[in-house]
Amino acid sequence: MTIQLGDTAPDFTAETTEGKVSLHEYLGDGWGILFSHPADFTPVCTTELGDFARRKDDFAKRNTKLIGVSVDSVESHRGWSNDIAETQGQGLNYPLIGDEDRTIANLYGMIHPNAIETATVRTVFIIGSDKKVKLTLTYPAAIGRNVDEIVRALDALQLSSQYAISTPVNWKNGDDVIISPSISDDDALVRFPKGFTTLKPYLRLTPQPNK
Ligand code: BEZ
Repeated sequence: MTIQLGDTAPDFTAETTEGKVSLHEYLGDGWGILFSHPADFTPVCTTELGDFARRKDDFAKRNTKLIGVSVDSVESHRGWSNDIAETQGQGLNYPLIGDEDRTIANLYGMIHPNAIETATVRTVFIIGSDKKVKLTLTYPAAIGRNVDEIVRALDALQLSSQYAISTPVNWKNGDDVIISPSISDDDALVRFPKGFTTLKPYLRLTPQPNK
């Protein structure tokens, strides 16, 4: 199954390191990051899952919960968490799904057989508070993800869900944003009282409105 932006994130109930979790219930009214990793007790995954754990508060501040998945068992995940704590300074502090029968991996299209036949690749699904998929990322097994980039994209998504803006190349929290071209100049002055700079009629920059 291919999940596209704007689709409702398929709901499921699964066994995790924190007991049985139903995705939509777990996320409640907040945002979520569902991510897969290829295998327990492997080097890149150990660093990634440790960093997600260290950054849990950054996600919580953004009303966002983490949930991971791989085709290993919950028992294996629990054993591996000790290694993550020992080497990365923080063990698992979010649910990690045991998906030995690949139910969740197949539901979310996390297995790319031409890349790895037996395991999930590194996918990320950012899910909005409306349960719609807002962003997807897919990395191969050998390339670790960048958690800073996931937080940055989450900031941009949350901002653009609150204001009629988009974010320019390399935007980061605190930078100017782009006013939606569908907003008239008169309306823009009301919505963005800090004012704006017009580089082109379709390219107007304004200070980040919630700062
Ligand atoms: C890793 O986490 O290092 C890894 C996992 C599966 C395949 C290749 C690398």
